[in-house]
Amino acid sequence: MKKDGFSGKLGFVLAAAGSAVGLGNIWRFPYLTAKYGGGIFLLTYVVLVLTFGYALLISENAIGRMTRRSPIGAFRKLCAGKHSFLGAVRWGGWINSIVPLIILPYYCVIGGWVTKYVAALLVNPVSAFHKDALATHAGKSMSASAAYFLNFISDPVGSTAFFLVFVIITALVIACGVEKGIERFNKIMMPLLILLCIGICVYCMFLPGAGAGFRYYLMPDVRKFSYMTVVAAMGQLFFSLSIAMGIMITYGAYMRRNEDLISGVNQVEIFDTAVAFLAGMMIIPAVVAFGGEKAAENAGVGLVFITMPQVFAGFAGGRIFGVMFFVLVLFAAATSAVSLMETNVQMVSQEMRISRFKAILCVLGEVIGIGVVTLMGYSLLSHVRPLGFIEKYRNFDILDTLDFLSNSVLMPVGAIFTTVLVVAVVGLEKFSHYIRSGRPWRREFLFQFCMCVVVIPCLLVVLLNATGVLK
Ligand code: PHE
Repeated sequence: MKKDGFSGKLGFVLAAAGSAVGLGNIWRFPYLTAKYGGGIFLLTYVVLVLTFGYALLISENAIGRMTRRSPIGAFRKLCAGKHSFLGAVRWGGWINSIVPLIILPYYCVIGGWVTKYVAALLVNPVSAFHKDALATHAGKSMSASAAYFLNFISDPVGSTAFFLVFVIITALVIACGVEKGIERFNKIMMPLLILLCIGICVYCMFLPGAGAGFRYYLMPDVRKFSYMTVVAAMGQLFFSLSIAMGIMITYGAYMRRNEDLISGVNQVEIFDTAVAFLAGMMIIPAVVAFGGEKAAENAGVGLVFITMPQVFAGFAGGRIFGVMFFVLVLFAAATSAVSLMETNVQMVSQEMRISRFKAILCVLGEVIGIGVVTLMGYSLLSHVRPLGFIEKYRNFDILDTLDFLSNSVLMPVGAIFTTVLVVAVVGLEKFSHYIRSGRPWRREFLFQFCMCVVVIPCLLVVLLNATGVLK
């Protein structure tokens, strides 16, 4: 990504998809889906992506392209000359910029776990993760795969080492500015990741007991629906599409004026959702096959790390596939982390008026500081529950808390600002006209309807939920 713009629509789509497709799709989506009832979560998620997510995704890209600024500058420019309430909307740019500072540290923590698993599958025979093998963690007997994961994250030294490896890889990419290389790399790695996921899905289809898992994943059970399904799906949507954190505004700013915004955004939306869907197809049937629906409902942040090695332990040559799988996930995570860090670095260097190099050092300091504290949440600080004073969040560890604060609090607030900016400050009609730029736009009505009627009430429910008032 260079200041003068992407090489063309393909460049934009690849960069935006590289940012969008990451741990959100492969790590976060499957465990949330498993936890919140399978099919009903999937359905809610897809409906929200097609309406709400789409409206925000296209808005952010258009704001970027319209102003050619980073989020803070974009909000400032569009609000210039407005007074009182409308003038205050300019603060939305700040909210959008702070979110990536919260996400990046814990994103790198999970990136470190992925790095560890590449190494783990390289050096351990995959049979060590067999679903029937048992081992102990903290004196309790459990599946070997779960024990391996828990023992790893609760080891402060080992987990910090892998976290640092991941952070350094990301920082090196940023420092060298090898984005052109990433674009090219993306073209090979993304399709490979998809092919591998399809292959693993087919294998999982034939696992004994997988049928029940497919049903759990694909057949919505309305009895499992609650407003929490919507809240969780909404948080996931922000995270996965990289919206409400300034990234899409920044990317829109790099798009050429005559580029077809509508189809570019469609492609990013479809691609991101397809990868998440595939990841679910691969993991959820396997969880249910190995542990039943109960195991799915109890899923947490460790799901991918516990279940996938068990899948690989089930067939000859599984180890090679396992290593390949985690390498590709590592790659997807790194491209997303690069986009997060790049936004942070730009924001810090512009707003603090310091050189890019100094800004990289500041961001690195922040990421390592908060990241290490997050990691310690599983070892030395495992008793810390930052939101313990709210009944509902009593059990949230540090990572859960950061995830919650960004996805369920700050992103909805940022998205409310974006919506007000589009509807009231710029004007919906003018904004739609700009997006259309003379092309047919099939989802225009849907867009306008969502921006006026759907988005703000949905976001308010999410925020109300976050206060802990709703049970
Ligand atoms: N969307 C990325 C993912 O799904 C995560 C991400 C969030 C990347 C925010 C950039 C910005 O993993």
